[in-house]
Amino acid sequence: MKVVKTISELRDSRRGLKEPVGFVPTMGFLHEGHLSLVRRSREECQSTVVSIFVNPTQFGPQEDLTRYPRDLPRDLAMLEKEGTDLVFVPEAGEIYPRGFQTYVQAEELTKRLEGALRPGHFRGVATVVTILLNIVQPQRAYCGQKDAQQSLVIKRMVQDLNLPLEIVACPTVREEDGLAMSSRNVYLNPQERKAASALSRGLFVAEKAFQDGERDGEQLRNIVRQTLKEEPLARIDYISCADLETLQELQRIERGALLSLAVFIGKTRLIDNVLLGVDSL
Ligand code: PAF
Repeated sequence: MKVVKTISELRDSRRGLKEPVGFVPTMGFLHEGHLSLVRRSREECQSTVVSIFVNPTQFGPQEDLTRYPRDLPRDLAMLEKEGTDLVFVPEAGEIYPRGFQTYVQAEELTKRLEGALRPGHFRGVATVVTILLNIVQPQRAYCGQKDAQQSLVIKRMVQDLNLPLEIVACPTVREEDGLAMSSRNVYLNPQERKAASALSRGLFVAEKAFQDGERDGEQLRNIVRQTLKEEPLARIDYISCADLETLQELQRIERGALLSLAVFIGKTRLIDNVLLGVDSL
């Protein structure tokens, strides 16, 4: 496994890789969720490239950029074990050189859910992913369903800009009690960690109601809300049952839907979702 820091080193090493190349962009502090993307890439592609870059442009001024968890030696050991071919670990100045001023903005899709509450977040994500895709030039890139809106924004952007690759959204990996794996779970103290299972519990109860025939969007949102109200440490940011293409809230589910939520457990904001009526994004 080769580890490189600069764009020119990346390009040199990229030339020697067997095609097709699969790419997994990450912000590091890897967990089983990231590794499932690496494994999928290894199954479907001849070579796998992973980037580790805590992207400053996707964090708001009040967000956790400086305290975002980092452990590069551990990440590299995990990636080596998974058979990753090439790891790109750039400094911020390599991605955003002096004078940088060009951003990528998906419009409608980023006005709702996470985008409404985290202004500029998806502009930062879309911009860095475009830069990374241009540098790595993979045939496939892998992202997680856990960050469903992010995956939809990236898919839309790739389609709108005619970028020559396929985006593969992979299922959420969960802890035994249902908590979706996330680098931010490390912020939870033991009591909060226990409380955090309320997120998936709420989603699963509503998913069961959908499977039993419930199609009313507000009823499904309410089912999640009721389950979360039973957990005193949980503070709901939003609960959404939205159309998979537009992310507009649904009164009634005719086709598929994205049932998603953002919830504070203590000071930590966690997100999760399930898909209703479809298997993947
Ligand atoms: O999901 C993440 O880790 C990040 O948002 C991504 C896609 C690597 C862009 O910085």
